[in-house]
Amino acid sequence: MFMLELAVNNKMSDLKTLFSNFNIVGPISLAVAIPWIMFKMFSAVWIKKNYNELAGKVVVITGASSGLGEALAHEFYKLGAQVVLCARRRQELERVRTDLLHTYCKDTTHPPIIIPLDLSKYNDMQNHVDKILSITGRIDILVNNGGISHRGRVKDTTIDVDKNIMDVNYFGAVALTKAVLPDMLKKKSGHIVFISSIQGLVALPDRSAYSASKHALQAFGDSLRAEVASDNISVSTISPGYIKTQLSMNALTGSGQTYGEMDATTASGFTPDYAAKEIVRAVVVKRKELVLSTLLPKIAIFLRKYFPFLYFVVMERRAKRASLAELAKSKPDEKTN
Ligand SMILES: NC(=O)c1ccc[n+]([C@@H]2O[C@H](COP(=O)([O-])OP(=O)(O)OC[C@H]3O[C@@H](n4cnc5c(N)ncnc54)[C@H](OP(=O)(O)O)[C@@H]3O)[C@@H](O)[C@H]2O)c1
Ligand SMILES: *[C@@H]1O[C@H](CO)[C@@H](O)[C@H](O)[C@H]1NC(C)=O
Repeated sequence: MFMLELAVNNKMSDLKTLFSNFNIVGPISLAVAIPWIMFKMFSAVWIKKNYNELAGKVVVITGASSGLGEALAHEFYKLGAQVVLCARRRQELERVRTDLLHTYCKDTTHPPIIIPLDLSKYNDMQNHVDKILSITGRIDILVNNGGISHRGRVKDTTIDVDKNIMDVNYFGAVALTKAVLPDMLKKKSGHIVFISSIQGLVALPDRSAYSASKHALQAFGDSLRAEVASDNISVSTISPGYIKTQLSMNALTGSGQTYGEMDATTASGFTPDYAAKEIVRAVVVKRKELVLSTLLPKIAIFLRKYFPFLYFVVMERRAKRASLAELAKSKPDEKTN
């Protein structure tokens, strides 16, 4: 009987300490929750305001004739920006412009502008920018998105292919950025976006030219960001994983032919629409960099940095697997020859 009483008393005191804990836990959780909720509310209002500010902004997008660039044109246009669509294929740019005009019943005070250009002819970039400025009066955001990929071993890739990919992906973006910069510096406002790649942070075998060009872009962006920060100019570097676009189809082989195959990895990637939404959000909140991928590429970046030997082993195996697959693919041909 006495024991039972003791047990009940113990339970009671347990309950009491539990309640007195609640007395502390309650205020503490409120003290954390209220500022957190307020922060969330303020940032939501701030982000909304920044989205609204895109209206009327002049956004120049390279590679706007296909894939991610096309999706970015839709996103920016939808939010009221005046988009300037750049790429080589005028017809495709016209298709995108027609799509934009037909998809969104927006007032057409800012119709999309088309500027056909070849990024590899980087000496022409100043002329193109002068032309844009003569139409719009300013460039608020430059999205360096146009690019081309590579499929092939170093030993099989001609230096001309290396140069071509570097010209388009790196020097084209650099020249365009340099051409746009003076006006942004004068106006003390602007935003330059580089669409790099996961492969701007970790290199894969059979992509040497592409990886090198994207690594270069990454470094250029980091230098530029520091230089222009005091001039109220933002620089965002976006490193996407696979996106479902024509990138692998349009990739160059070692001899400079078009690869013409849809890689399974590319086909299973993010949709261009999703990637574009995330990128516009990053621009709106002025993120300095964004790794836009699933977990695996992020692990690869981590390994490359902190456990490089593991990354080297994984990549060696990948290269070996790729050459075995290549061999298996060429076998049936040999029989017919
Ligand atoms: N898809 C992915 O998995 C992935 C992943 C990471 C990063 N990215 C990057 O995303 C960007 C867009 O590629 P995407 O995936 O959308 O591929 P895409 O569908 O092949 O589009 C590439 C765009 O670049 C343009 N372009 C190519 N060479 C050009 C040149 N010499 N001058 C001007 N424009 C040129 C193309 O237009 P024209 O042919 O009309 O010139 C096209 O609009 C690239 O920088 C790519 O590296 C893609
Ligand atoms: C900085 O640039 C933003 C646009 O990117 C602009 O809204 C803002 O007024 C600029 N600030 C100054 C101090 O010029």
